[in-house]
Amino acid sequence: MTNRKRRSSTLCVQGAHTQTSGPAVLPIVQTSTFVFENQQEMLDSVQGKTGKDVYTRWSNPTTKSVEEKMNALEGTEDTHIVASGMAAISSAIMGLVKNGERILSGDSIYGGTVNLFNKILSQSCIEVDYVDTDELADILADSGSKYKLCFFETPTNPTLKIIDIKKVAEAAHATGTISMIDNTFGSPINQHPHELGIDLIMHSATKYLGGHSDIIAGTISGPKRLMADVRGAAKLLGGTMDPFASFLLDRGIKTLGVRMERHNANASFLAERLARDSRIRKVHYPGLSSHPHHDIARKQMSGFGGMLSIELDSDLAGTSKFVDSLEIFLNAVSLGGVESLASIPALTTHYGLQEKALREMDISNSTVRLSIGIEDKDDLLEDLMAGLDVLG
Ligand SMILES: Cc1ncc(COP(=O)(O)O)c(C=O)c1O
Repeated sequence: MTNRKRRSSTLCVQGAHTQTSGPAVLPIVQTSTFVFENQQEMLDSVQGKTGKDVYTRWSNPTTKSVEEKMNALEGTEDTHIVASGMAAISSAIMGLVKNGERILSGDSIYGGTVNLFNKILSQSCIEVDYVDTDELADILADSGSKYKLCFFETPTNPTLKIIDIKKVAEAAHATGTISMIDNTFGSPINQHPHELGIDLIMHSATKYLGGHSDIIAGTISGPKRLMADVRGAAKLLGGTMDPFASFLLDRGIKTLGVRMERHNANASFLAERLARDSRIRKVHYPGLSSHPHHDIARKQMSGFGGMLSIELDSDLAGTSKFVDSLEIFLNAVSLGGVESLASIPALTTHYGLQEKALREMDISNSTVRLSIGIEDKDDLLEDLMAGLDVLG
């Protein structure tokens, strides 16, 4: 057997190893518990000496196969798959950050993560300092040993700001801080944070990895020295991935390479066209040369992704009318599936925030977030143009 290194699309379909026997498709081991011949074998397995599964909350063969595939895709030593992106974030943080320690975070992160940090972590006396994404790396570099962990997302939600991943990784190494990225928007096809020096990489696998809007799942990948504590916490917090959902996740990942190519191409096409339309005030897309972080995006992304957001020249009522009039873009939250979605952050992910707070995040009542699917790009463009026509 050769030792040739496989590329991402091959890893998505086949994983890192040649399969020589057994079913061609991942079997679903739908069991909560596993049987042992005698007490000695049971004890050895509980102590981790046999490598055998004991109980599905601890490990399961179907999920383990997908974990190996994720290791191959992210280039990491260990991956743990859990029941949601939020379970991945909470398991990592609860496993690694102790009472009284601090976290540094970019200020543009998913709203659920902000709520986890502010409402749950604060109960364990874990404080989070939020800083402007443009300043994150410099502030971390100057922080001495103040922070246990630095958390960030790039591209950010919903205005697609880009953070220099390598700069954050270097600052984290220099200060002995654990670096953790939410790579959901990037995907393991477009962005490889491990190669740039990041310790922990998480995904809401609900999005691009699953790809069909039919599962909720999360992955966390990193070195064994950190993952042991992450796995330990996940086991006790109990956000266990169901084996059937692992099967669906594996099936989704098989087409991730081709899907991302299409997401990238469709979103680039639409961003260019929308940027030329005078009825749109602004298009946020890292692939546009006018994007303020385009150079960083070009350096660290091999594709610019399927997410973009636009600022309409309208108020909230007009923006709602625009979204309601769309026929191909579904009116739904979430992202990363084959179907295109449109949502208004001010009414969904960022609902209830004052206009000033929204402005600080570069969001307004006329911001529309688009998750560009894999439909025909001209149908998508026509749908958006018809929506703009409705606005007048
Ligand atoms: C960027 C990002 N991170 C994390 C999450 C949380 O993932 P999940 O809904 O799978 O728990 C989301 C959900 O929308 C997200 O958009």
